[in-house]
Amino acid sequence: MCGIVAYIGNKQAYPIIIEGLRRLEYRGYDSAGISLLNGDLHTYKKKGKVQDLENFAADKNKEGTMGIGHTRWATHGKPDDLNAHPHVSGDGNITLVHNGIIENYAQLKEALAELGHEFKSETDTEVLVHLIEEYQKRDNLTIEKAVQKALKKAVGAYAIVVFDKREPNKLIGARKSSPLVLGLGKDEFFLASDATPIIKFTNKVIYLNDEEIVNINRDGTYEVVTIDNELQSPVVQEIDLKIEELEKGGYDHFMLKEIHQQPQTILESMRGRINAEEGWVLVGGMQDHMKRLKEADRMIFAACGTSWHAALIGEYLFEDLARIPVEVEYASELRYRNPVIREKDVIVALSQSGETADTLAALEMAKKKGALLYGIVNNVGSSIARLTDCGSYIHAGPEIGVASTKAFTSQLVVLSLMAINLGKERGTISEGYYRQLLHAMEAIPAKVQKILEQDEKIKYIAGEIRNAQNALYLGRGYNFPIALEGALKLKEISYIHAEGYPAAEMKHGPIALIDMYMPVVVIATNQSAYEKVVSNIQEVKARKGIVIAIVLEGDKEIKKIADFTIEIPETEEPLSPLLSVIPLQLLSYHIAVMRGCNVDQPRNLAKSVTVE
Ligand code: AGP
Repeated sequence: MCGIVAYIGNKQAYPIIIEGLRRLEYRGYDSAGISLLNGDLHTYKKKGKVQDLENFAADKNKEGTMGIGHTRWATHGKPDDLNAHPHVSGDGNITLVHNGIIENYAQLKEALAELGHEFKSETDTEVLVHLIEEYQKRDNLTIEKAVQKALKKAVGAYAIVVFDKREPNKLIGARKSSPLVLGLGKDEFFLASDATPIIKFTNKVIYLNDEEIVNINRDGTYEVVTIDNELQSPVVQEIDLKIEELEKGGYDHFMLKEIHQQPQTILESMRGRINAEEGWVLVGGMQDHMKRLKEADRMIFAACGTSWHAALIGEYLFEDLARIPVEVEYASELRYRNPVIREKDVIVALSQSGETADTLAALEMAKKKGALLYGIVNNVGSSIARLTDCGSYIHAGPEIGVASTKAFTSQLVVLSLMAINLGKERGTISEGYYRQLLHAMEAIPAKVQKILEQDEKIKYIAGEIRNAQNALYLGRGYNFPIALEGALKLKEISYIHAEGYPAAEMKHGPIALIDMYMPVVVIATNQSAYEKVVSNIQEVKARKGIVIAIVLEGDKEIKKIADFTIEIPETEEPLSPLLSVIPLQLLSYHIAVMRGCNVDQPRNLAKSVTVE
């Protein structure tokens, strides 16, 4: 997935675009580039980060009040200067940036080459800008019409911004399956992959819909049309994002800031949805479809990565508390395996970004089969949020660190409240237990804060295992998905290979791996299977494994046998993942920092995978 920023107005475009690209680097950082128009077209692009682009452009002409910029996560063509965006047409007049994949680029490239077009890069994007050039020349079209015609020919996903150096007062944006936001400033316009590069200048935005094109004019006018030239009446929204939410706020990394924000973000996710004193929980997104939700004879949870781990906990919650059968699917598998999905089914999609291609595609498939779609999303106005029939925003605020932390716990809050709400509606939990769960939920933020205060101890433990080559995470029941999540966190930011397993499964294979070099993180907070987890720990110790145990405050038995223990407060078991994940987030963070890894932008990763 890539980041796009573009500007037309009365200010110098370069600083605006560069700062905007920095805010979007979490979307991809293989290479970066910018095109500026100041009488002539100047395009600078470089492998590496935005800083590398800035260094390269330091002594170049950076004047101009219109420009387009791009930070890349490579799909077609390796990360290098030639494959970096923007891409320029053969005649040097048109420049374009793109997020997405043009699936029929090979056929188009072949046809264009036969017409004499020569390509400098391996990218699908360069084909698109040559296609626009071809239509413009062959059919004597304006740049707007040439873009429209080319997009009708292109198959796949795109968010593009393009301009023709001979039209210094026109900037064109378009999207299909990849996000593009239009910012409406005072005598100036912005286009970006999300609102973060825009909010410093304006909070008035339009989220473009699929197959929509926005033709912007420097005189302050604009129009939104479809690729079939149907004039649209877009809705201007006012977003309440604040610029300081996008800064590190004194922390070394966004990930650390976001881990420490969790007492607050968990509270935000609950706000207006629960009152233990008065004894109610109310998840607004469910109310209009409560009958269909509570009578569902099956729910399918679809997600990817960390959101899939949240979905797995959702299964435990909904079956345990609301007695509704749940199936959890990797979205990328669900969309391709020709599943049985009926009109009665409810599909719950979890996605922090709301733009993950596989999750979006799975939802589109389910929608065609008539299922009810429910979205649990963080990114307001995102594609998944707008595709679903109903849903709940998790209100975790912008999550910049590529490794998801606060969004994960906020997803768990929403899932827990939904399960409690449905359990109450269906009468599958007693009034007493209902009240207990409400009070336990409201106590979570303070308990998270208490765990965060053990950061120094967790950092010490990180130092003891930072050179491990492999690690094993074990958990039971509600904490089995947390074992998976802890392992993913370690893998994706420290590059240590780690696997999560149900604790009881260890003896069915993984135990063969255990030796004195293997750290084994055991989540041992379950009251319901405590003795069994103690046995698992003894089995590891018998093979000289290094045991880091997450235990309840006051635990004595495990403290005697584990190498390291981290104590966390007790809570109702269905809510325990909200607490047991916190030490694992900090552990992976500190190990990654000690190993000199780029915590906020780990190699090969991107914050939201909007390509398949
Ligand atoms: C989480 O730490 C990962 N960066 C990744 O697995 C992520 O959860 C996954 O790509 C899904 O993203 P989404 O929640 O935005 O759909």
